[in-house]
Amino acid sequence: MQGDASVGERKNTQEMEVEKVFHMKKGVDHTSYARNSLLQRTISSQAGPIIVESARKVYDTLRPECLMMAEMGCSSGPNSLLLVSKIIDVIDEASRSINCQCPQFGVFLNDLPGNDFNTLFNLLPNFNQGLQEAKGSGFRPCFVSGIPKSFYGRVFPDKFLHFVHSSNSLHWLSQVPKGLVSENGEALNKGNIVLAKSSPPEIHKAYYAQFESDFTLFLRSRSREMVSGGGMVVVLTGSINSDDPDSMLELVGPILQDMVLKGVIEQEKVDEFNMPLYTPTVEEVRKLVEAEESFALNKLETFTTDWSVDTSQTLETQAKFVAKTIRAVVEPLITTAFGHAVMDDLFLMSETRVKERIAKKTGEFFNIVLSVTKKD
Ligand SMILES: C[S@@+](CC[C@H](N)C(=O)[O-])C[C@H]1O[C@@H](n2cnc3c(N)ncnc32)[C@H](O)[C@@H]1O
Repeated sequence: MQGDASVGERKNTQEMEVEKVFHMKKGVDHTSYARNSLLQRTISSQAGPIIVESARKVYDTLRPECLMMAEMGCSSGPNSLLLVSKIIDVIDEASRSINCQCPQFGVFLNDLPGNDFNTLFNLLPNFNQGLQEAKGSGFRPCFVSGIPKSFYGRVFPDKFLHFVHSSNSLHWLSQVPKGLVSENGEALNKGNIVLAKSSPPEIHKAYYAQFESDFTLFLRSRSREMVSGGGMVVVLTGSINSDDPDSMLELVGPILQDMVLKGVIEQEKVDEFNMPLYTPTVEEVRKLVEAEESFALNKLETFTTDWSVDTSQTLETQAKFVAKTIRAVVEPLITTAFGHAVMDDLFLMSETRVKERIAKKTGEFFNIVLSVTKKD
């Protein structure tokens, strides 16, 4: 059942333990992440050629008997299993082309403990049946399991994984950065709920410091868990310039302000609310990968995706689509801070704001794709 924070339980984001409360919208109803993640699916499929190229290279160089792969930040929709199928297809094809038996697969679906793993697991019978039908009786087993743990830290044993993939997840931080409140308790990122163009420089510093620490910990943890020659591809939302952060969620701040004016929520609560999200530049990602030193950089590229995926639709349809996408991602966090009652209003209002951005043709995601190989 979807949790609704009662007034007494509501928390500001400084107090919130992100790893305990963060998840996408559960279930399969019309507002769920499972039904509203076409944008994320489109982004991963745009990066698809780089993802499968890396997996193929791992197979060609290591030829494991059982290929261990991790999907990090798998969430509850169909996107992760669709990608796993693509990777299996490519490796199956590669093994056939050299008359070898396809390896077995160990697939580890990782997300935070609050993720709706049940909805994901319900997709497994069809996933397994699809594999058996497509590959025939000679196809060897694919062992799928769920791993509820933060990817910021160790998740697997030493030298265990051959391939790691993560899409649309690593821009989420392990916590709301420290330093968003002054020494006398005043909120410093007022008017915004993420790092935004109008945020003061100290807010930028605080967000980058958190990203630097989290991303480095992610790399360090995976470097222990991956075998030498193993491959990893990370796709995340980025910003073109570090002083010009770009996030679709920036829109939600002004909407919350409108709700303060209507008397629906308190100004203080909005001032205190900040999302644990940072969209780095390519250079920031490059610098951190190089500084960590465990990985050889194969590719670091960027591409864009329209917020509404299909720009041939009417403005109305595009705005509804984007508002539903935003809702499926942020509803659990917003509910924790402001309660469930504000949700319907908030998302009706976000349609209007989204429409303005799309009409100005500025509704575009900037994505970064990183492909690395674990060094010896
Ligand atoms: C937008 S969803 C992306 C899901 C899927 N990869 C896709 O592309 O559709 C981001 C996911 O990352 C997960 N996530 C965020 N921080 C995480 C962490 N520290 N450890 C594991 N998963 C995390 C969230 O819970 C969420 O399910």
